[in-house]
Amino acid sequence: MPKTQEEVKPPSLFIMKFNKALHVRSAFSCGFKPIGNFLKSLISEQIKNNLVTAWVAVEDSSSKSPVKGFYALNAHSISQAELPDLTKKITKENIPAVYLNALAVDKSCQGRGIGTALMVHAIKKSVEFSEQICCAVIVLDVLVDGDDDAFMRRIDFYQTLGFKNIESIDYPHRMYLSIADARVSL
Ligand SMILES: CC(C)(COP(=O)(O)OP(=O)(O)OC[C@H]1O[C@@H](n2cnc3c(N)ncnc32)[C@H](O)[C@@H]1OP(=O)(O)O)[C@@H](O)C(=O)NCCC(=O)NCCS
Repeated sequence: MPKTQEEVKPPSLFIMKFNKALHVRSAFSCGFKPIGNFLKSLISEQIKNNLVTAWVAVEDSSSKSPVKGFYALNAHSISQAELPDLTKKITKENIPAVYLNALAVDKSCQGRGIGTALMVHAIKKSVEFSEQICCAVIVLDVLVDGDDDAFMRRIDFYQTLGFKNIESIDYPHRMYLSIADARVSL
């Protein structure tokens, strides 16, 4: 079950919508370059083109502050065949979904609850979105970087938040959380 936001929110951090004028990205490093590059080089353009929406964790909410962590979401859809348990009684080929496009915490502050706080925030946002434009699941693909131990820790991390594996041939590391379960647990 996901923990509540109050239980996990690290002290003195704010989670807010990404603002390129305020949120300093130059020193951000999570240990995986493509995610850092996404934050530094691609995210503004993608936001401008309505391709993703992003939130950051910062220490100061009102003036320039380095990004300690971030996540990005976009709309998605998933084949009903990939979610047989969830959609047994539904006849709809494509299930509307929220996709967790990226999640990362700066190396200097990993292991302090920021990733969990960001995920709880992302889950809460997804539930809010589902009330405006229906979606049934939150979907993500677990990062594979060749480090098996880190990979297993990521799986544990998402499982603790209530995510389950999807048996997908095309996306072998895909996980999901139903909006119904997320709503109950928040
Ligand atoms: C995975 C990640 C977002 C977790 O954020 P965090 O703030 O460190 O996590 P929290 O402190 O809230 O929770 C700790 C849990 O996160 C996971 N975790 C922590 N550091 C991790 C790391 N370097 N790699 C993988 N998982 C890690 C573990 O499950 C850990 O639980 P444990 O301490 O019982 O082993 C963060 O470590 C990170 O940015 N890693 C590199 C990028 C990445 O893997 N992004 C996810 C892509 S799917």
